[in-house]
Amino acid sequence: MEECISFKNMNCPVYLKRFSPEDIIEVEELEKRTFEVGPYNREELEELLTMPDTFNFLLYDEKSHELLGYIAASKIDEVTANIESIAVDPRYQGKGAGTALLNAIEQEMKARKYIFSILEVREMNMGALEFYKSKGYEEGELLKNFYTLSYKGSNHGIRLIKKLT
Ligand SMILES: CC(C)(COP(=O)(O)OP(=O)(O)OC[C@H]1O[C@@H](n2cnc3c(N)ncnc32)[C@H](O)[C@@H]1OP(=O)(O)O)[C@@H](O)C(=O)NCCC(=O)NCCS
Repeated sequence: MEECISFKNMNCPVYLKRFSPEDIIEVEELEKRTFEVGPYNREELEELLTMPDTFNFLLYDEKSHELLGYIAASKIDEVTANIESIAVDPRYQGKGAGTALLNAIEQEMKARKYIFSILEVREMNMGALEFYKSKGYEEGELLKNFYTLSYKGSNHGIRLIKKLT
């Protein structure tokens, strides 16, 4: 099902869609363009986007049907869901696409009766940290050596948490 949305500074109308298997190559390409270190490979994405208790949204340009970004989450326990991945094409960052994706997944979490949204972010991913903090996420524990690969000299992570209201 497609859901039309609009948000600030975005010239093109966009729409949200759920993942289907034929989208996998596009999502894989988006991951490679977006993450300098450790993009998900196809097998990881298939698991992330198709396993039970996972849910997701893909954001497309309405005219070109180009994939602008995606977000995926999974169940941790009865009250907690984890944002496993969010990526916005570097060409479209800073225009509200990430906000639209996060809003959509938080709405879905609430519909599924989760109370907390959590995630892990690389300690040196300042842009993502600022993004999440601007959306009400608070810093939790430092996750030492959480990532296999280093980014900007660190492989530590930070857990972020938000109580959904
Ligand atoms: C993080 C990310 C998803 C944000 O998406 P986006 O579309 O660029 O974000 P938005 O345009 O909706 O930004 C919303 C707010 O977040 C903050 N923000 C977003 N990117 C930021 C950056 N690089 N630096 C500082 N603040 C930033 C701003 O406060 C912005 O507020 P504004 O609306 O007043 O401008 C996107 O930049 C991205 O894909 N980054 C690379 C992948 C990544 O790091 N993913 C997270 C892994 S945990």
